[in-house]
Amino acid sequence: MRRLRRTAALRRLVAETRLHPADLIAPLFVREGIDEPAPIVSLPGQFQHTRASLRAEVAELCSLGVSAVVLFGVPERKDASGSEAWSPDGIVQVALADLRSDLGDDVVLIADLCLDEYTDHGHCGVLDGAGGVDNDATLELYGQVAAAQAAAGADIVAPSGMMDGQVGAIRGALDDSGFAETAILAYAAKYATALYGPFRDAVDVTIAGGGDRRAYQQDVANVREAVAEVRLDVAEGADMVMVKPALAHLDVIAAARQACDVPLAAYHVSGEYAMVCAAAERGWLDLDAVAYEHVLAVRRAGADVVLTYFARHLAETLQ
Ligand code: PBG
Repeated sequence: MRRLRRTAALRRLVAETRLHPADLIAPLFVREGIDEPAPIVSLPGQFQHTRASLRAEVAELCSLGVSAVVLFGVPERKDASGSEAWSPDGIVQVALADLRSDLGDDVVLIADLCLDEYTDHGHCGVLDGAGGVDNDATLELYGQVAAAQAAAGADIVAPSGMMDGQVGAIRGALDDSGFAETAILAYAAKYATALYGPFRDAVDVTIAGGGDRRAYQQDVANVREAVAEVRLDVAEGADMVMVKPALAHLDVIAAARQACDVPLAAYHVSGEYAMVCAAAERGWLDLDAVAYEHVLAVRRAGADVVLTYFARHLAETLQ
């Protein structure tokens, strides 16, 4: 076996998996009402962007060959239903319009579709009388968010709330409001994990009363359930599906790849990124090498595209 490992050129020839900037999607945060980009302490190198700094960042990512960005908004005002998520003046809607006017169709614009950044209680949907999340009332609102994001210029909306029936409801709302061409990237198998910690700092989300999302996100113990979620989302009209987190769920990525033929994304999440940065800061790991190895492993497990905070760094180092 060692004959084909002898030189870098031989190893390149027989590599079974490759990583290219076009395989990467950069998650980006845009915050309403700030004048300067704000560094996110628990996500070194990442920022809450202003509208202007977001435009500059996406233009650079585009010139580095990154295919797509996914936007998360941090609104100035939160309320019980998360109404800034579908307001035409909401921060993500205005940012989508900025980017579309700057870059035309050169970049794929994805809008994360959820309410948690916009609700004052931090849950991904509206609450029922007992403090739980009301599934069907939330679907109604997701439809409005999808239409607002599509109208603002999103190519793809990406529902991340894990409500039952969300993909079908969003597909119906998009079609009914004249956005039949807007695609859906479903966060199909999204787990309730401790690995989202730094993300919640990035979007200023605290779940009321020390609550969690275990009543709607998946239990990390399960993989067959993920396959069922993927099949349901494809049946409801998902154009692409996602597994999240990525590195802690490589088996789930492989199972999802077997279970469907639509493009498969995986989200290398904030905690997975922050761990590598923290160890590298201490001199314990080589950041470039580990970032490459981790994201490549996600591709090898079966993901076609990877959402990762390393997108820019990898695109620069892969040139
Ligand atoms: C919810 C959402 C979350 C992430 C993406 N979308 C957080 C959550 O479910 O609590 C996490 C992403 C990351 O950790 O990088 N809108």
